[in-house]
Amino acid sequence: MIDHEAIGRISARYGAKPARLVGMLRDAQSEFGSLSPGVIDAIADELHIPRVRVESTASFYHLLHARPHGAFELLFSDNIVDRFAGSREALAYLCERLWVEPGKVSEDGLVYVDTTSDIGMGDQGPAALVNGRALPALDKNRLDLVATLVRENRPLADWPPMLFEVATNVRKPGPLLGEDFEPGAALARAVALKPEGILAELETANLRGRGGAGYKAAWKWASCRKAEGAAHYVICNADEGEPGTFKDRVLLQTRPDLVFEGMTIAALAIGARQGVLYLRGEYLYLLEPLEAALARRRAANLLGDAILGDAAFNFEIEIVLGAGAYMCGEESGLIESLEGKPGKPRNRPPYPDKSGYLNQPTLVNNVESFACATRIVERGGAWFAAIGTPKSTGTKLISVSGDCQHPGTYEYPFGVSVRQVLADCGAKAAQAVQVGGPSGTCVPWREFDRRIAFEDVPSAGAFMVFSRERDMFDVARNFSHFFAHESCGFCTPCRVGTSLLANTMDKLAAGKGSAYDMQRMQMLMRVLLSMSHCGLGHTAAKPVVQTMAAFPEAFERRLRKLDFEPAFDLDAALGTARMITGRDDDWAHIVSAE
Ligand SMILES: Cc1cc2nc3c(=O)[nH]c(=O)nc-3n(C[C@H](O)[C@H](O)[C@H](O)COP(=O)(O)O)c2cc1C
Ligand code: SF4
Repeated sequence: MIDHEAIGRISARYGAKPARLVGMLRDAQSEFGSLSPGVIDAIADELHIPRVRVESTASFYHLLHARPHGAFELLFSDNIVDRFAGSREALAYLCERLWVEPGKVSEDGLVYVDTTSDIGMGDQGPAALVNGRALPALDKNRLDLVATLVRENRPLADWPPMLFEVATNVRKPGPLLGEDFEPGAALARAVALKPEGILAELETANLRGRGGAGYKAAWKWASCRKAEGAAHYVICNADEGEPGTFKDRVLLQTRPDLVFEGMTIAALAIGARQGVLYLRGEYLYLLEPLEAALARRRAANLLGDAILGDAAFNFEIEIVLGAGAYMCGEESGLIESLEGKPGKPRNRPPYPDKSGYLNQPTLVNNVESFACATRIVERGGAWFAAIGTPKSTGTKLISVSGDCQHPGTYEYPFGVSVRQVLADCGAKAAQAVQVGGPSGTCVPWREFDRRIAFEDVPSAGAFMVFSRERDMFDVARNFSHFFAHESCGFCTPCRVGTSLLANTMDKLAAGKGSAYDMQRMQMLMRVLLSMSHCGLGHTAAKPVVQTMAAFPEAFERRLRKLDFEPAFDLDAALGTARMITGRDDDWAHIVSAE
């Protein structure tokens, strides 16, 4: 029996707004153990919305599930860096200690262990989530402790806090991560500058977005300011789902005021009264400290009504949690999610600056972009423009992980060479770096003098180091599975293409590949690039094709033949049909051409 009062309480927590359906579903799952058909019905009734809408949203997000996952759900981060750090062995060890099979609930209904996409902890893996809370640096001792705590059925509140301590690992601080910041200092200057002055500073700074595409912030802010609508919104994109990226996590952990102040300055510039920080579900542990930072800002009159004593300056920030979907990092998918829907991308144009959240003008920027905006307003656009290169101004936060001695977050002026970063992080014998995550660029050792900059190797932040001992085919295969898993299924080229690509990589891994398969993957890339609806599909084949070009030997040694080799034995597959029809003559067999 579903406790309808509990559903009512959950709904009230979110103002009974269908737009906050993802949050309600998260809470209902915590309360009832799963999103069973009864829970879905009750939520639909409570919100007076069609059941199918609740169900389609619930089934879209990886962290939501229709069946119970036991009292403890443990999800191991599964990007390639985690795997090289031993995540698969750690998972197997824990399963053995708990007598449970991966992907199945234990017989006593106590525990469920499985993998999930990258959880933003590449500098301290192997890592996992337990009931949504992060468990970094899982060595054997910690896994033993976790197994004991689970078997004793101890509530998470009683687990030793050190298990949940997420290190910041700031290795090279700069203006964003290292230098002091007085909350309110930039905001006071913004009030004096007025919106036109703020936009002028951004223009002088030549700030380009740090979330991937590198769009000019001054243009986006000015266009959003000009757009007509009943309300304007500011959204900070803290979805950070690109494997190998964790710099936004570190900024939010160490410098929340830089980010919130940037959002507040943006509100002043575009005329918004409401902002949202969309926090990826995997960063649940950041929610409490971030709420505390917002409370401090309200108490200091840096947020809320009449900010800094200006009766016309009113702005609030709400933090909204995602529920596990890479697509929600794409700005229109994010907005759909914020409206309580599956995070599928919208048709564009119109872009969010004209018609975004609730179809109103909406400014979406990355966490790091807002932090940069704060420094620009505080110190001036000219100061910012003097850092980096003319086309890529300012500093860039880089999340370094993989085969190096000092993984963590590094802040460099744009234009730093890949070689320099490798030297600083203590990477010996690197053969390649994946810059910007799976959708970024594979830089082989021959090209280590290339520079991190929009005009050379652009990066949303990830810098995954692979030593000569690593098989680059494994890297590309892991990335192909990531995209197949994260494709939202909206358009056929991507839904089918990403699966075909991952299956072909599996076929090669099984030693059944041929030159034909290599050509087919090139063809798939062309289809994905030209026919997909959004950026995920456009880049999905990039890691495979780039790795194939840079490390052809990693692929070629897996090829059995130069012509086509089927992935499975077709003749054997017809065995059941032969049995049913009672035929076993020559004509009932597939005859090999050999
Ligand atoms: C599949 C996909 C995933 C994305 N994930 C993120 C993300 O996690 N964080 C982010 O800031 N931008 C992400 N983006 C880019 C956003 O759509 C958007 O361009 C960005 O948030 C704008 O902010 P910026 O101009 O400050 O970079 C993603 C784009 C695509 C296509
Ligand atoms: S390209 Fe992929 S992720 Fe993007 S809309 Fe199509 S199916 Fe969804």
